[in-house]
Amino acid sequence: MNNVTFGTMKPIPFSPPRIDEKTIAAVTEVLRSGWITTGPKTRDLEKKIQQYIGGGPVLCLNAWTNAVELVLRWWGVGPGDEVIIPAYTYAATANIVMHVGAIPVMIDCAPDSFLIDLEKMANAINGKTKVIMPVDFSGMPVDYDFVMNCVKEKSNLFEPKNDNQKLLNRILIISDAAHSFGAKYNGQPVGAEVDVAAFSFHAVKNFTTAEGGALVFNLPAPFDNSAIWKQINIKALHGQTKDALSKTQAGQWQYDIVEPGFKCNMTDLQAAIGWVEMDRYEVDHLPRRKAIVEQYAKGFASFNWAIVSQFQVGNRESSYHLFPLRIKGYDENKRNDLITFLAEKGISTNVHFQPLPRLSYYKSIGFREEDYPQAFAQFENEISLPVYFDLEEAQVAWIIQEIVDYVNAHP
Ligand SMILES: Cc1ncc(COP(=O)(O)O)c(C=O)c1O
Repeated sequence: MNNVTFGTMKPIPFSPPRIDEKTIAAVTEVLRSGWITTGPKTRDLEKKIQQYIGGGPVLCLNAWTNAVELVLRWWGVGPGDEVIIPAYTYAATANIVMHVGAIPVMIDCAPDSFLIDLEKMANAINGKTKVIMPVDFSGMPVDYDFVMNCVKEKSNLFEPKNDNQKLLNRILIISDAAHSFGAKYNGQPVGAEVDVAAFSFHAVKNFTTAEGGALVFNLPAPFDNSAIWKQINIKALHGQTKDALSKTQAGQWQYDIVEPGFKCNMTDLQAAIGWVEMDRYEVDHLPRRKAIVEQYAKGFASFNWAIVSQFQVGNRESSYHLFPLRIKGYDENKRNDLITFLAEKGISTNVHFQPLPRLSYYKSIGFREEDYPQAFAQFENEISLPVYFDLEEAQVAWIIQEIVDYVNAHP
C-alpha cells in the first residue's frame, strides 16, 4: 500500500467519545424526567459498576480529581505527610496532594516502562508515608500484589496519626486507575485489588460521563465500606446530611451540615451516558479497542525503530486506553516534527505525559528533571496514536502508513 490508497481519508480526531442514538435517548430521558442532578441514574450506574467489578461499594462523583482529594481528606493526609506517586502521570495525581498540604514524593519509571519503578517506590517508604498512589498508565494495571505486600511488610514503619490510620496500621493504597476502567487483573476487571480504586470518566477516557469519576471502597474488615461511602458522599455535598433528592420526600426538607464540605456530585445527566455504555462496554467497546491496538502493534512489528508497549503481561491486561508508540533514536524535536506532520495530514495525536518535574510549578518547588532519567527517556520519543470505538480499520492502516513512510524518510 502507499499514500495514494488513502488520498481521500477524512480527518481523524484523537479520542472522541462513543456517543450514538442510544446515548442521546438516555440523556433525553433524564432531561424529560424532571430530575437532572444526582438521583436514580447515578445510583443505578454505581450499582452496575459494582456488579461489573465485584468489589466494594462504588461512589460516582464529578471527576477523579475531586473524588480522590476527598479520600485523602478522609484518611487525614495533611502537612508533614508524604504521598508516593509516579513522576510519569497527569498533574491531577500530584495537585491533590498539594491541595491537602502534603508532600508528593515522585518516583521514576521502571527501565523501559511507563509504570512506576516498584523497587524505588518501596525504598521511598518511611514513617511519613501515608498513601501510595500508583498509576495504571495507558490502562495497564501495575502489579497490585507487589504494592499491597510491600506496605504490609513495611507496616512497622507506619506512624498513624488518627483513628482510621491506627485501625489499618499501614499505608493506604489508592490506585490511580484513571485510564484502566475495564483492564483485567487475574482475569477480573480492576477495582477490587487495593484499598480504594479511582477511575476517571473524563471525556477522552474509554468509559465516559463527559466529566466524572468513581471510587471503589475495598478496605479490609473491620472497616465498614458502606459507612465510608456515606462519609465521602457527605463530604462531596457541603457536609450536608441529605442529598437533594432525599430532601424532596414528604416532610424531609430539613438537613444538617456536619462539616464544611465540598461540592462535587455527579449529575444524572452525566450518569445516563455511562449507564448506556455499561451494558456494552465489555461486549463490543473493549474488544474494538483491543483490535485497534493489535492492528497498530502488528503494523509496526517489522520496524526496528518502533518500540511498542506490552498490553498483556502475566495476570495483567490493559484497558487499551492509549497506544503509546516510541520511536527509537528520536528526541523531543523529532517527535514534535512528526506530530506536526501528522496534524497537517489530518491525524490528531498526543503525548502522554510530560513528566511532572518538567512542569514550571513542580520545578519551582524543587523537582529536577535529571532525577527522573527513565521518565524522560520514555517521554522524549513518545507519541500517542488515536484509539476510539468508531475508529475504522482503514483509518488505522492509514495512520500506520503515514508514520512508517515518515520515519523511514526521517530516521
Ligand atoms: C493519570 C490520570 N490521573 C488523574 C486524572 C484526572 O482525572 P479527572 O479529569 O477525571 O479528574 C487524569 C486525567 O486525565 C489522568 O490521566
